[in-house]
Order: sequence, then structure tokens, then C-alpha cells
Amino acid sequence: MSSPYRHDLLQDQVAWITGGGSGIGEGIALQLAKHGAAVALTGRKEASLQRVATRIADEGGRASVHPADVRDPQGLEDVVSAITERWGRLDILINGAAGNFLCPAHSLSPNGFSSVIDIDLKGTFHACKAAFPALSERGGSIVNISATLQLTGTPLQVHAVSAKAGIDALTRTLAVEWGGAGIRINALAPGPIDGTPGMDKLAPGDMRDRVVRSIPLQRLGTVDDVALAVLFLVGPASAWTTGSFLVVDGGQWLSSGGLGAVFQ
Ligand code: HXC
Repeated sequence: MSSPYRHDLLQDQVAWITGGGSGIGEGIALQLAKHGAAVALTGRKEASLQRVATRIADEGGRASVHPADVRDPQGLEDVVSAITERWGRLDILINGAAGNFLCPAHSLSPNGFSSVIDIDLKGTFHACKAAFPALSERGGSIVNISATLQLTGTPLQVHAVSAKAGIDALTRTLAVEWGGAGIRINALAPGPIDGTPGMDKLAPGDMRDRVVRSIPLQRLGTVDDVALAVLFLVGPASAWTTGSFLVVDGGQWLSSGGLGAVFQ
């Protein structure tokens, strides 16, 4: 894919990506590296992170691997220390780590609910807090990967929509609180993205065609659709944008509720 951005958009910058070992996080990592950033990858599975780091190196980019669980605040602080030691600075944080599954609310266990809150919402907070000292040294940018499912009532997703709604509120609040430290923080809400663990889990096999029909732009998203929007949010074109909620879903959530769904 040829990029609409300058290849040196993020030259000399350092980006930390949680959930960087697969799916949307992997796609974001690749694009940030292609546009000049050194990319620090965090996730639970070292082998997945290493695979992505190798892909980046093969394309001439710079990457480092920092396995950690976003549910471990101290582990994330250790990762930030390792990143600043390795690369000398931190400019960008992408909170991409997430966990999800389909489950009716009435049979969801307390630990099932907690697990998704702990990974998505609390993990986002822990990573933001761990990154704050390094980001505030010269100003920086955070992008929190949100969703659109919390904007409507989405059955079987009470755990995930609760977490993502919390991420949206956290984003707005930190945008106000950390603006004075020169840190911008925005949320990006992807729709159904082809070939990702989220799509496999939430819209398996035979649901695919129905999902495509629900999207006004008539196709699933790609990881590059999301990654190129992230480049806008972390780059200079959005220098005065903070606390925003950018939907990248082909119009899907707007058309999926109300009478629109009946007419399609
Ligand atoms: C019901 C389930 C379940 C399922 C797990 N649990 N899967 N309950 N239905 N399908 C329950 C378990 O029974 C357990 O509760 C609790 O959740 C924790 O499960 P563990 O497997 O012990 O947890 P852990 O190994 O930490 O795994 C976390 C996970 C897992 C979230 C459950 O799915 C995961 O790690 N996923 C990461 C990858 C992923 O899902 N990516 C897709 C993201 S899609 P008990 O009570 O038995 O102890 C995405 C889209 C967002 O984020 C859009 C939505 C708004």
C-alpha cells in the first residue's frame, strides 16, 4: 500500500504499542515504523511480539520487544524504563490491548466481567499512567483503541461495552488533565476489521456477509484503514486535536440501529 503521508512523518519519534503482537495493534505498529518511528511492542506472548518485530526489521524499520500483561501496573512501568533506556525517549502510546468474547450477561461470571474490564479499561489507565512521566518530557500523544459497540445496546457484550465506555470517559478526562503537560489523548473506534481476532470472535464465519451488508461503504475495514487514521491522530495534522472520538467503521454503527436496519 502506498501511503498518503510523508515517509518521515514520525522520524526520530518513539512509539509504544500495547496489543502489538496481532491484529489491529500489529497493523498500527507496522505503519508507525514505516513512517519513521521506533516501535516498542508489548503483549503477553513474546513469540507474537518477536514475529512483528522481525516483520518491521525486514521492512527496514526499528522495533523492540517488551512482553508484559497490561493488568500489571509495575510491569508496565518497567517496560517504559526499558523503552527509554533502549530508545532514549517516548513520544507516542497506542493502547491496543483488549480481550473479548461473546457471552449473555445473565451467565457471565464475575471473573469474566472483571477480566475484560481489567485488560481493556484498567490496562489502558495503567499504560497511560506508566507513560506519563516520559511523554510529558517533550509532549506526546496517546491513542486509545475504543469501539462503536458501546454507542448502542449490543447484546452478549456487556463486559466489553462497559470497558470501552470507560475508555471513552478516561480519554476525555485525561485530555483535559494532561493538556497542560503537552499530551494529547484521543480515542479511535474501529468498526469490523477483516482478519483480526476481534472479527473472528465477534462475527465468525457465516455472519461475515451480514456484517458487510450492514456497512454503508460496503466492505469490511482493513488494519491499514485503522493504522492510517492513527497516523493522523499522532501526527502534526492533529496538533490541536485532543479528547476526540474518531470513528473508523465505514458508517457501520450509524446504520446498524433503528429503522435503518429494517429498510436495508
Ligand atoms: C464466558 C468466558 C469466556 C467465554 C473466558 N471467560 N472466555 N466466559 N464465555 N467465551 C471467562 C472465564 O471463564 C473466566 O471466568 C474469565 O473469563 C477469565 O478467563 P481466563 O481465560 O482465565 O482469562 P485470561 O487468560 O486472562 O483471558 C482473558 C480473555 C481472553 C479476555 C478471557 O479472551 C483473552 O485473553 N483475549 C485476548 C485476545 C482477544 O480477545 N482479542 C479480541 C479483542 S476484540 P471464571 O469465572 O471461569 O474464572 C475486541 C473488540 C472490542 O476487543 C469491541 C467490543 C466493544
